[in-house]
Amino acid sequence: MTTLGTPLSPSATRVMLLGSGELGKEVLIALQRLGVETIAVDRYDNAPGQQVAHHARTITMSDPAQLRALIEAERPMLVVPEIEAIATQELEKLEAEGLVRVIPTARAARLTMDREGIRRLAAETLRLPTSPYRFCDSLAELQAAIDGSDGQPPIGYPCVVKPVMSSSGKGQSKIDTPADVAAAWDYAMAGGRVAKGRVIVEGFIDFDFEITLLTVRALNASGGVDTHFCEPVGHKQVAGDYVESWQPQRMSEAALERSRLIAEMVTADLGGLGLFGVELFVQGDQVWFSEVSPRPHDTGLVTLVTQWQSEFELHARAILGLPVDTSMKSPGASAVIYGGVDAAGIVFDGVADALAVPNSELRLFGKPESFVKRRMGVALVHDQDVDTARQQARLAAGKVRPRQA
Ligand SMILES: Nc1ncnc2c1ncn2[C@@H]1O[C@H](COP(=O)(O)OP(=O)(O)OP(=O)(O)O)[C@@H](O)[C@H]1O
Ligand SMILES: [Mg+2]
Repeated sequence: MTTLGTPLSPSATRVMLLGSGELGKEVLIALQRLGVETIAVDRYDNAPGQQVAHHARTITMSDPAQLRALIEAERPMLVVPEIEAIATQELEKLEAEGLVRVIPTARAARLTMDREGIRRLAAETLRLPTSPYRFCDSLAELQAAIDGSDGQPPIGYPCVVKPVMSSSGKGQSKIDTPADVAAAWDYAMAGGRVAKGRVIVEGFIDFDFEITLLTVRALNASGGVDTHFCEPVGHKQVAGDYVESWQPQRMSEAALERSRLIAEMVTADLGGLGLFGVELFVQGDQVWFSEVSPRPHDTGLVTLVTQWQSEFELHARAILGLPVDTSMKSPGASAVIYGGVDAAGIVFDGVADALAVPNSELRLFGKPESFVKRRMGVALVHDQDVDTARQQARLAAGKVRPRQA
């Protein structure tokens, strides 16, 4: 049975977020509403989540010593990773020492920070359907994997190359012909989180659509873990970054059943409690596993207007051992608002026009610095008809015009 305390008192239930961007900010707000004392950690000051937490800490989260020192000093009941780029091996040690509980588990954080860990688990251990793939450490190995001159079945063209350590499409490109291979390699080397990188090359899946299946592992009344599924979230990606999402994505019963089976298997193996974003490609009744975030997913921002409990509230409840409800209240859509300028302390024109769009809401994340392609906000619209919601969300997002102050 979960007992919650009073923040800023000796009885406080203390939770630390590692990463305090727009997704962490919403998790922090959900925790605040339950009277949880929150510690928002990021690599820079005044990150979105730091603006709504009891405590803000700025460290290099990929530095094991800094991470250990902070956790030892704060002694939170739970550590909740919001981003991939953290010293996950140190988290595993801290968890093994019994110093802290990592959400969902330190192992899950380690496996999913690296495309190799999660891909090998899904394809080789769990035998789930994925795109054909190979890991390569040089341009020559990449070419050999595509051609099949390494003695294994060729990956062929078209294919997709990604640094094993990267997110939001960074360093990722599609290869259509042999002429593209060298440029894709160079692009991956420049875009990875670590300088000298390894890449994954994947056969291109010509899917009808892709979904995020938000999946929650939460305690039931008898103390066991149940797996709950949200309605599928459809989304559109441009250059590996999400620009629009909607819920529900219509799909066949067979594809939905397969999607849930895949999500159940992956999340059961990763274990622990919390919400996961399982990314799947769908073509007819066929489903391929792509990747999984052991935390709320950017495409799931739409659930702020489509579900009784958003993905952020679901995560907050599940990690605290509380019951969850994944039901929808309305179909809806989200559309991303990019910075459009490189500048600090920007202003947003057109906010009133955006909010005059029927059934709309906005989230402006409060990021201190804007970049042309940085996500600065999102427009959310609910409507009985998903297509209308998508159109109206795009309309509302387009009305917001960020500019230099
Ligand atoms: N093998 C593939 N076949 C077809 N499309 C692909 C493939 N791999 C990736 N994509 C496309 O690129 C997008 C981003 O890929 P992926 O999710 O692997 O990268 P990411 O950098 O982790 O992105 P994010 O962090 O935004 O989830 C996918 O959502 C999909 O649209
Ligand atoms: Mg992805």
